[in-house]
Amino acid sequence: MTNDERWAVAAGRAGAFNAKGAPLDVRRIRADFPILAQSVNGKRVVFLDSAASSQKPIQVLQAMDEVYRCAYANVHRGVYAFSEAATARYDEARAKVARFIGAPSAEQIVFTRNATEALNLLAYSYGRHFLRPGDEILITELEHHANFVPWQVLAQERGLTLKFIPITPEGQLDLQRLDERLTPRTKLVSFAHVSNVLGTITDPRPIIQRAHAIGAKVIVDGSQSAPHMPVNVGAMDCDFLVFSGHKMLGPTGIGVLYGKRELLEAMPPFLTGGDMISAVGFDGPRWNEVPLKFEAGTPAFVEAIGLGAAVDYLDALGMEAVRAHEREITAYALERISEVPGAKIVGPTDPEIRGGVVTFTLDRVHPHDLASLLDRDGVAIRAGHHCAQPLHIRLGLSATARASFYVYNELHEVDALIEAIYKAKAALKR
Ligand SMILES: Cc1ncc(COP(=O)(O)O)c(C=O)c1O
Repeated sequence: MTNDERWAVAAGRAGAFNAKGAPLDVRRIRADFPILAQSVNGKRVVFLDSAASSQKPIQVLQAMDEVYRCAYANVHRGVYAFSEAATARYDEARAKVARFIGAPSAEQIVFTRNATEALNLLAYSYGRHFLRPGDEILITELEHHANFVPWQVLAQERGLTLKFIPITPEGQLDLQRLDERLTPRTKLVSFAHVSNVLGTITDPRPIIQRAHAIGAKVIVDGSQSAPHMPVNVGAMDCDFLVFSGHKMLGPTGIGVLYGKRELLEAMPPFLTGGDMISAVGFDGPRWNEVPLKFEAGTPAFVEAIGLGAAVDYLDALGMEAVRAHEREITAYALERISEVPGAKIVGPTDPEIRGGVVTFTLDRVHPHDLASLLDRDGVAIRAGHHCAQPLHIRLGLSATARASFYVYNELHEVDALIEAIYKAKAALKR
């Protein structure tokens, strides 16, 4: 078999097993995730922390392994076979990501390290170049720190005003308050498509339309949506979309910034150095075209190729089917957790407007104690503020417990979670 044939097998394997529109065959999916066959504390692992980072299928591991074994050399530099092969696969990964989110062209996909870096790129490049003292940035009370701190820092540094869309008692964005928050001074609006704590799915279109009507640009943080549901930047008409590869079956160290072409072209570079210039003389540099203008230095191209394989995998499953699977498991988890005496769901209880994240508190049990006790039963959940401290302040909570689901989770894992919660309660005499 040639290297290219091996590559095609590694990249295309997932396409073999899911007819479009069919429910996920979770048994078969699980067979692609070697880590899920492991035991933890003598128990079969029940991994319920994919909102933090997902596990990786063998197709992704093989795609990266294949590059290192068969086609590894620095991209964009060599005129020899390995470099040309690696560059072609890197470009192909960019095109796959563009197709995955409905971007008009691959040049509108900038690879970053993660969503956090993509948001910082926007704050540095767009924010520092286009915003003036007195301008306003509108975010929401439910943002992850990645979509909070860069704007706080920028506002302090540049004399901007940071405003917030409040949340309702049910944990949705209070869009009745949107028009009073949007003013002629609002230049940028940035919000999470899906909250990593409340799970709330926000319809981005009304916010984007109303922001555009007053001339503001809009960033959508797709970190918790792009991995879990169909996301189409054309339909949304957002100006920018960011997300991380590691939450969508891809490797760490690779993230995505999508932007409208004219905006990316007008923005100055973020980092400078090799690859992002078209020429450098003693009198100064000339910038490369987008997206390379924003990709200084040797990029994480093997990770990008891994992300391309993850996109192939998700495409083969079908994002509608991914969402339907998570809706079902979330509905079941919401029902089962709310039956536990002392448990309180945080965020919407309607699975139609909730992504695959179920956050809760348990009366007189600290979430960290709960998570540690659950680990004894091989059940991995998250405890803490989930990098959303302002939201927890707003909710009057210091910490919460969070179970999150993905394509490889089965309904009986929710039963295992519930059983482990009862055991933890008994151990703590609650
Ligand atoms: C909504 C949201 N935004 C941004 C991020 C930041 O992602 P990363 O740490 O991969 O940059 C996360 C991570 O949990 C998130 O959930």
